[in-house]
Amino acid sequence: MYILGMESSCDETSASVVEIIDEKPYIRSNIVASQIDIHRLYGGVVPEIASLAHIEAVSRITHEALDEAGITLKDLDAIAVTSSPGLIGALLVGVNFAKSLAFANNIPLVPVDHIKGHVAAAYFGKEDLKPPFLALVVSGGHTSIYHIRDYADFDELGTTRDDAAGEAFDKIARVMGMPYPGGAALDKLAYDGDPKAIKFPSPALHGDNLDFSFSGLKTSALNYINSNAQKGIEISYADVAASYTDCVVKGITSKVEAALAQSGATTFALSGGVAANSHLRASLARLCEKKGISFACPDKSLCGDNGAMIALAGYYEYKKGNFAGTSLNASAYSPLD
Ligand code: KG4
Ligand code: ZN
Repeated sequence: MYILGMESSCDETSASVVEIIDEKPYIRSNIVASQIDIHRLYGGVVPEIASLAHIEAVSRITHEALDEAGITLKDLDAIAVTSSPGLIGALLVGVNFAKSLAFANNIPLVPVDHIKGHVAAAYFGKEDLKPPFLALVVSGGHTSIYHIRDYADFDELGTTRDDAAGEAFDKIARVMGMPYPGGAALDKLAYDGDPKAIKFPSPALHGDNLDFSFSGLKTSALNYINSNAQKGIEISYADVAASYTDCVVKGITSKVEAALAQSGATTFALSGGVAANSHLRASLARLCEKKGISFACPDKSLCGDNGAMIALAGYYEYKKGNFAGTSLNASAYSPLD
């Protein structure tokens, strides 16, 4: 069967065709129209501009996705669309477009939660990965640990109480003059610095919980950069990048270790845009190896927002009979939160 996956929750408009053969997913196309160059001018995502850019791109990329897959609308068995969480105006563009396409062509419509999409990205090419397992979704908007009970059935075990890890990376990168989103540039710069040079507060919350808080860490790094600048003291941005990254990676790794111990899980998956961070991937892969836990992570090309992950998560919702009608609405919040 063929599923069209549509994603427009933030600053990428994406459409993808995924074919399912004998329960195995194959990406036939995955077109991503990034708005990053536009938002970079403002140092972050401007919601109104994001909505307009989605409107401009959505029809074109949907045609491209179908053409590249070599199919037409008539061949589709379902249309899956991100309906939560994200920027409400941005989500509405994808939801309304998908609704029109589905009802004009009599194709079942499947609403998909973006977080479930990120987790689904880990299944591509990894036939051994099967629920139940433990997953960490770490992106620009989320830092949460889930027990994946089944393909479309998640329980949240822990989450951030304020900012997400990606947001925290992007903010510090911006202060150090890197273009938005600075996460990937900070990842590279961290190799040139000393991870022990500066002591920052851990984002792992104290106590018997699996929660995070990135705001204290972020403020501490901002104060370090600003107070040194005010005093005319030259600092090493590479040391800031290395120490900050080390602090984020150690904090996340410690909570994942606790979650693995508490849940008794034997498989762990790392997903979301920040899963592309090489230091975090290495640390969590090492932890799993040490504990004899199998480790899964999407290819870097599937860590960021894309339609293929939505199509596959949509397939699992389809199998559960989770369809939507014309009354489908978008929500800025995830029902998983
Ligand atoms: O999942 P995603 O594409 O969008 C959201 O759902 O938020 O994640 C985007 C986030 C941005 O904050 C970006 O800076 C971050 O992922 N990111 C990285 C890396 N690559 C992307 N953060 C750290 N290291 C990276 N290599
Ligand atoms: Zn995302």
